[in-house]
Amino acid sequence: MFSRKNNYPTFYTYHGRKISKKISPLKVNLINKFYDQYSLDESVINYHISKKNCKKINIPKYYNKVNIEIGFGNGEFLIKNATAKPEELFIGIEVYVNGIARVLSSIVENKISNIILSNINSFYFLEAIPFKSVDKIFIINPDPWIKKRHHRRRLISYATVKTLYEIIKSKNSIYITTDSEPYMNDIKDLLNDHKNVIGGYTVRILMENDDLYGISKYQRKAIEKGGKLYQFLI
Ligand SMILES: C[S@@+](CC[C@H](N)C(=O)[O-])C[C@H]1O[C@@H](n2cnc3c(N)ncnc32)[C@H](O)[C@@H]1O
Repeated sequence: MFSRKNNYPTFYTYHGRKISKKISPLKVNLINKFYDQYSLDESVINYHISKKNCKKINIPKYYNKVNIEIGFGNGEFLIKNATAKPEELFIGIEVYVNGIARVLSSIVENKISNIILSNINSFYFLEAIPFKSVDKIFIINPDPWIKKRHHRRRLISYATVKTLYEIIKSKNSIYITTDSEPYMNDIKDLLNDHKNVIGGYTVRILMENDDLYGISKYQRKAIEKGGKLYQFLI
């Protein structure tokens, strides 16, 4: 992963913040030894450097369903789901290297075979995914980037939602949660402005008995502070 990152830095660049704390030699070793077995980065990069003339990437066909989580953080939700549903594939995309190392360590330790990882910026990864090939997409509490001058760093933009919409097999398959009311309102505006392309959506406050309530570190932080969690389904 690290040599590919040096050779093709564009695909691993994330504008906005320092991606990683210092990474320990143990984690570097783990990534060097195992990452390529569990990633499709080479196909994603080939797709882009061929100026998109080659086919989109091949997603393994032997799973019942294909799920993607973007920005999985420490990977808690990804690992839990992959372990509970071994017949489904879970693709996890995260620019934070320590998050990748954490999930990789769990994959190796627990012999989990239905996770594919990517440290590539999701904008590039998603573009390489074939149309109508994904069953569910999860984006759990993306960074809200509250200051106006930082809005362009937000993960949820029209371009992202349009790409997500192109790769899902059917409507009502994209789940986005946030605890930020301003971000929720901005996403609502964005979806309303592009209803002709994206179609309808729902947004509601998550309750304690909802499947996606309290399932990640950032969600629990918000709950502890007395915040609400909003869920979009597109
Ligand atoms: C606020 S954290 C939430 C982490 C986790 N989902 C949770 O709820 O605990 C957002 C995560 O998204 C990742 N991220 C942001 N933009 C990304 C992108 N374009 N591609 C992949 N990961 C991204 C960040 O590195 C960060 O770990």
